[in-house]
Amino acid sequence: MSGGDAGGSGGGGDPWSFLPADPAPIAPLADGGWELCPVDAVPDGAARGFVLDDAGVRLGIVVVRRGDDLYGYVNRCPHLSIPLNLWPDKFLSPDGQVLQCATHGARFRIEDGLCIHGPCDGRFLTSFRLAVKNRKIVALEP
Ligand code: FES
Repeated sequence: MSGGDAGGSGGGGDPWSFLPADPAPIAPLADGGWELCPVDAVPDGAARGFVLDDAGVRLGIVVVRRGDDLYGYVNRCPHLSIPLNLWPDKFLSPDGQVLQCATHGARFRIEDGLCIHGPCDGRFLTSFRLAVKNRKIVALEP
């Protein structure tokens, strides 16, 4: 094979090949939970997405950092049960103050996941417990 994509150029290729590849799911730790990344890999004011291997099922979560506080949620909008983001790590509103669903614009408080604007107003994101161990963020069971 001499370069180019696997789909070739004859029109039968993957029409979504321009999208970033899904990340490999993170395997669970032997004693439970999933080690995500160093704490500093989620800068203050930023959000980052991860995919966990949950007993063979891919489970997306989002981690948001505010100072020393970390907030974790399942990456699933309560409106249509689809991921909040369309692009990697793009979870926040332009002003960075709320989580925002990319599909219909629902806005969620970072502190508790409550939808404060949009078609799922009054509903919550599913929280996901996090811990910090040895300066690494570890996702625990929801
Ligand atoms: S799917 Fe998120 S607001 Fe509609």
